[in-house]
Amino acid sequence: MIVPFNYLNYQFKDKKKYFAEWSKLIDTSEFTLGPFIEKFEKKFSKYVGVKHCISTNNGTDALILSLKSLGIKSGDEVITVCNSFYATAGAIEACGAKIVFVDSDERYQIDLIIKDSMIKIPGVGMVITQNEIMTAGDSDIEIRLKNMVHPIKSPDIIFIPIKYWSTRSQSGATHGTPYDYDAHIPFFISSSNFKKKEIKKRVSSVDIAPTISNILNISPPKSINGKIIKIFED
Ligand SMILES: Cc1ncc(COP(=O)(O)O)c(C=O)c1O
Repeated sequence: MIVPFNYLNYQFKDKKKYFAEWSKLIDTSEFTLGPFIEKFEKKFSKYVGVKHCISTNNGTDALILSLKSLGIKSGDEVITVCNSFYATAGAIEACGAKIVFVDSDERYQIDLIIKDSMIKIPGVGMVITQNEIMTAGDSDIEIRLKNMVHPIKSPDIIFIPIKYWSTRSQSGATHGTPYDYDAHIPFFISSSNFKKKEIKKRVSSVDIAPTISNILNISPPKSINGKIIKIFED
């Protein structure tokens, strides 16, 4: 079987349709930005099911911009496969990051190979692929993992930290583990004249305003529908 290097003649079977569009574009000279690009970006976003898309001049720049938008910079490492077009490694190099090549498995995937390395990182308790989560059983933790995963937006490989291990980012501590303690949001009230006390009752965010009003001895507005959390009583 002869496999052609490309399928240009197949892709552009209906040449007339494309030439008619190009002719309009040439007449207006609007080939960078402008209405044609806008139309393409809108149609493409709809096609791939995302809100926005930005078209670029070529695939290499698309890779560079994607890496930069993720904050990849000098000193970072980017893992990629050896059997991709050289633009993949070139884009990593262009961002100043270190290229780390890994083999792909018999499915041409790298997720299982990355999994083996990720589990060795301190603080990582479990590394699980999206596919493993979706085909997991029905234990509490497996159901929580399934609920956490979005088929399109979630990464292919998900790591779960060791219990009570928290990572900090510029936007604060992270949530999103399937552990019990992460299924609730802790709520702290502190003051120098408070005695330490842990309340294990389930409260909700609307209770915060009436509770603070009560502590400050002021009446909350009538429109507030939360309840006072009894901090000083048993
Ligand atoms: C996998 C892959 N990535 C990136 C590129 C780079 O695209 P461009 O040649 O438009 O810069 C190519 C081009 O063939 C490619 O095959």
